[in-house]
Amino acid sequence: MSAKRKILATNALPYANGALHLGHMVGTIQGDIWVRTQKMLGHDCLYICGSDGHGTPIMIQAEKMHLAPADMIAQIHQTQVNDFTDFLVEFDNYHTTHSAENQQCVETIYKRQVEAGNIIKRTITQLYDPVKKMFLPDRYIKGECPVCHAKDQYGDNCEVCGTTYLPTELINPYSTLSGEKPIEKESEHFFFKLQNFESFLKEWTRQGHLQQEVTNKLDEWFKAGLKEWDISRDAPYFGFQIPGEKDKYFYVWLDAPIGYMASFLNLCNKRKDLNFAEYWEQEDKVDLYHFIGKDIIYFHALFWPAVLQGAHYRTPTKIYVNGFLTVDGQKMSKSRGTFIKARTYLNNLQPEYLRYYLAAKLSDRIEDLDINFDDFTQRINSDLVGKFINIASRCASFINKNFAGELSAQIIDPALFAEFSTAGDALADHYTNIEYSQAIRQIMTLADHGLHVFCTTENRINRTGLYAFGATNTFSFTDNSNCR
Ligand code: MSP
Ligand code: ZN
Repeated sequence: MSAKRKILATNALPYANGALHLGHMVGTIQGDIWVRTQKMLGHDCLYICGSDGHGTPIMIQAEKMHLAPADMIAQIHQTQVNDFTDFLVEFDNYHTTHSAENQQCVETIYKRQVEAGNIIKRTITQLYDPVKKMFLPDRYIKGECPVCHAKDQYGDNCEVCGTTYLPTELINPYSTLSGEKPIEKESEHFFFKLQNFESFLKEWTRQGHLQQEVTNKLDEWFKAGLKEWDISRDAPYFGFQIPGEKDKYFYVWLDAPIGYMASFLNLCNKRKDLNFAEYWEQEDKVDLYHFIGKDIIYFHALFWPAVLQGAHYRTPTKIYVNGFLTVDGQKMSKSRGTFIKARTYLNNLQPEYLRYYLAAKLSDRIEDLDINFDDFTQRINSDLVGKFINIASRCASFINKNFAGELSAQIIDPALFAEFSTAGDALADHYTNIEYSQAIRQIMTLADHGLHVFCTTENRINRTGLYAFGATNTFSFTDNSNCR
């Protein structure tokens, strides 16, 4: 085993504006399997997560539910904890971005960026809802596509012809919140100068911190040129106020990844053996791993390392990106009835089945994973129940029934024993390299071999007569389907 390492692993923080669905389980289960492996290998590994509580969609959702945003996110936070716990995801801490720890970390980071000259102010023009008295994010504006004239298209791109445009280019735009025609209005915004980090990022993204596919994606973004990042939002907004400013808030995506630090800081306050500076201020003592979905690469592989670097914190050791979960080959959809909430699954099936099914499909490629319930049933029945569990259950009853629960003093098949006992290193490597499908394949091959030897032994015993082996009663078996 390699030397004992200190590792901090995180999973993307789910928004606290609705129920978790099976898609949310992909990254968390992937991370959980990885963390369990590291713990089993003897490393000192912590798994951190939390709920993401800020932003316009949270504010709007709370309004719909007639709740104060803070109350709504507290409720949803608890359902997230319950869902993850019941999916056997073992976080060492599950905190929230709407916390004193996060505010403290955000303000420190912002102050350091200001001091380093990484923040500028600029006046921009945006669409504004005169009825709701708020600036509208693109997704709250709809109108006619300026290119193909399809109606009811979102403010950033047309789902019919695929064109991307500015919300101000939409024909007959309307606010989806009030139905009113938005007006153009000026406001001063704060920008993070991502361009200041271009050479650092170009180097960092090629140092093995990312999967190859991610590096390739980033190359495209580098070619398009890095732009300033708008990190402020005007009131009304649910988030942290920018210190020293009136009615200006930090954009949710600035404070969200800082939530990883905040969740860890919260854990430090509970566990006095942890040292925040050791984990976040130096690179060499601790490894930092982030598990995220493919839709949030830009925030984690560009903004986040730049924000950390600019504030003199350590940068991530590795970012692991997972593909999206689809159901029956398509994006989960409420209207097709394929949108599966985590709780709906848990009310009907055991968490281990999904964990196994996902593990059998996950690799370090950023491919989408499909869940098809015929395939799901077949794999659980034949692999997990028919092979893996079958070995334990048949051996146990066989030994109990015929040999009073006592194992033989000799190993009947030393080659088989060696095959199993030496497999651990390769399996651990597969898990560590997030090649779970390879690990599962190897485990199932082993299970096949084990079951085969068990069946042969069982047959031999049946043929020679159990009494010769000291059995007290006769034994028969019915299920031969896995004995090949
Ligand atoms: N709040 C942000 C993340 C902030 S991290 C500092 C967010 N939240 S989310 O609730 O939309 O998504 C949480 C995680 O679930 C993300 O990693 C996202 O990619 C992942 N997934 C959401 N839907 C998914 C699927 N259908 N399939 C796989 N992962 C999915 O983004
Ligand atoms: Zn169009």
